Amino acid sequence: MSRRPLLVGNWKMHKTVAEALELATTIKNSIAPAVRADGVEVVVAPPYTALHPVAKRLEGSTVAVAAQNCYWEPQGAFTGEISATMLAEVGCTYVIVGHSERRQHFHETDALVNLKAKAVLKAGLRPILCIGETAAERDAGEMRNRLVGQLAEGLFGFTPEMMEQTVIAYEPVWAIGTGRVATTEQAQEAHRFIRGYLHSLLGEVVKSVRILYGGSVKPGNTAGLMAQPDVDGVLVGGASLKAEDFVQIVRYNEAAAS
Ligand code: 13P
Repeated sequence: MSRRPLLVGNWKMHKTVAEALELATTIKNSIAPAVRADGVEVVVAPPYTALHPVAKRLEGSTVAVAAQNCYWEPQGAFTGEISATMLAEVGCTYVIVGHSERRQHFHETDALVNLKAKAVLKAGLRPILCIGETAAERDAGEMRNRLVGQLAEGLFGFTPEMMEQTVIAYEPVWAIGTGRVATTEQAQEAHRFIRGYLHSLLGEVVKSVRILYGGSVKPGNTAGLMAQPDVDGVLVGGASLKAEDFVQIVRYNEAAAS
């Protein structure tokens, strides 16, 4: 089954509104041929403050907008929080949930990630649910247990219809921001395992679910990762902050061909 390649830039806590608009505009103007030629899907995830202006700037273009987080109630007395409904209103189509930085710095549990993913779907948006093991877990031979735990709890109560709208991002914590990218074999092994486990949970629908790889993705390693049968896209941090690098990542097929 063919899965449309999905390339996502997670800008994390970077970019003022002016900087975000500049980056979004350059990306929009530079990727049109890649989107036309290869049918890839491109998404950028600016910080909350830049979501609305960036979504406006990208209106009518082929680049979609994601938020990096959300709260699970639609509204209420939750000072400082932003709901998925609000994100839909400002033009988001995806929301990243369960990023390892949120798990690590903000103590997000799999149960909270599950609430967020369900709230995203209820708001008519698509969750990009992040999972991944730490170096210590990998070294202790616990990688598979960790991934199963995150998927089982994070997707608790999901139906095949909900899964169809969901994207999974495998981001090994040891590869994030470290320059230590997983080898193509490590990525494929983890992705195949994830798809197999999801299949046991939710059945055939999983053949159409995209599984992204994240962790030190750069222009030079994207084509190799994307060549793996179960790697359907990438979630890019640092390299998505530079238009030139992100555009090269989106055009990975041209690099692979030359
Ligand atoms: P880097 O690409 O900077 O390693 O970050 C990956 C990431 O966390 C994307 O969500």
